[in-house]
Amino acid sequence: MTQLSTLGKQEGFGVTARRDAWWVGPLLTLIGLSAFLIYGTWAAWQGDGYEIRQKTGRQAFHDPDNKAVAPYLSPFFAPLIYDKGKSHHAWIKSDIRPSWLPGWFPFSAGFLILAFPGLFRFTCYYYRKAYYRAFWADPPACAVGEPRKTYWGENRLPLILQNLHRYFMYIILVFMVLLTWDALQAFWWPTNRHGELLPSGGQFGIGLGTIIMVINVLCLAAFTFGCNSVRHLVGGRLNCFSCPKNPENLRLGYKLWRWSSLFNEHHMEWAWISLFTVGFTDLYIRMCSMGIWTDLRII
Ligand code: FES
Repeated sequence: MTQLSTLGKQEGFGVTARRDAWWVGPLLTLIGLSAFLIYGTWAAWQGDGYEIRQKTGRQAFHDPDNKAVAPYLSPFFAPLIYDKGKSHHAWIKSDIRPSWLPGWFPFSAGFLILAFPGLFRFTCYYYRKAYYRAFWADPPACAVGEPRKTYWGENRLPLILQNLHRYFMYIILVFMVLLTWDALQAFWWPTNRHGELLPSGGQFGIGLGTIIMVINVLCLAAFTFGCNSVRHLVGGRLNCFSCPKNPENLRLGYKLWRWSSLFNEHHMEWAWISLFTVGFTDLYIRMCSMGIWTDLRII
């Protein structure tokens, strides 16, 4: 009772009876998410470096004769909506930048798709907790005073829009199929082991980038399949498995729900691991495309 009454009297931003280093988690979250946001925005802004091509350099990147020498595609630009250099990954093989858009306005194939995984993560239940604490200090941690005295919840604008998470989930399931396809394509090379372009078609091969792309897709899948909205979907969109009115053919749904829950138990870990792998996959391909790193062809 003494302890409860002591805690009950605490008020004001940052005031707490906690003696542990409660601020470490929000601080690391602030640093980690800020670093990813800055890097991701910068990388998408470049509008290049998403493939490894014969000639390096920004001018050469969009040269239509500058062919890809590795089958990789950065996940920041996948699916590749358009490409000025006519990449075989591109859905539209030309520049689609509107002529009326001012030159200073950023327009890149990365910006056309990054909004969707960005909104999926932004509205994720785990990330909400993380950035409410780290960026808004609302509250900074459990049993630590917050700057506001009122509580709105997520019942009105703008935070009620967080409920759109389930719809972003459907879009991301499509992205997962496309990213898986890109990872499979990373086994089909346009060059031989000596880096010489094959006259036509391609050949099976594995490079370090292939392994990185596959690991990235697996980590993204572990994050996505542990999503609360995915659990609800695969479980048959029910709130109760044992209720008598539910049909009997729920066994499959229950099994899938249990399977999704395995990933959900570590959703925070998968959120961070997949954030790292997706950023590192872009970094690896970008560094190789700039000629700073050299990709290792294994098979
Ligand atoms: Fe985190 Fe859906 S709850 S991705």
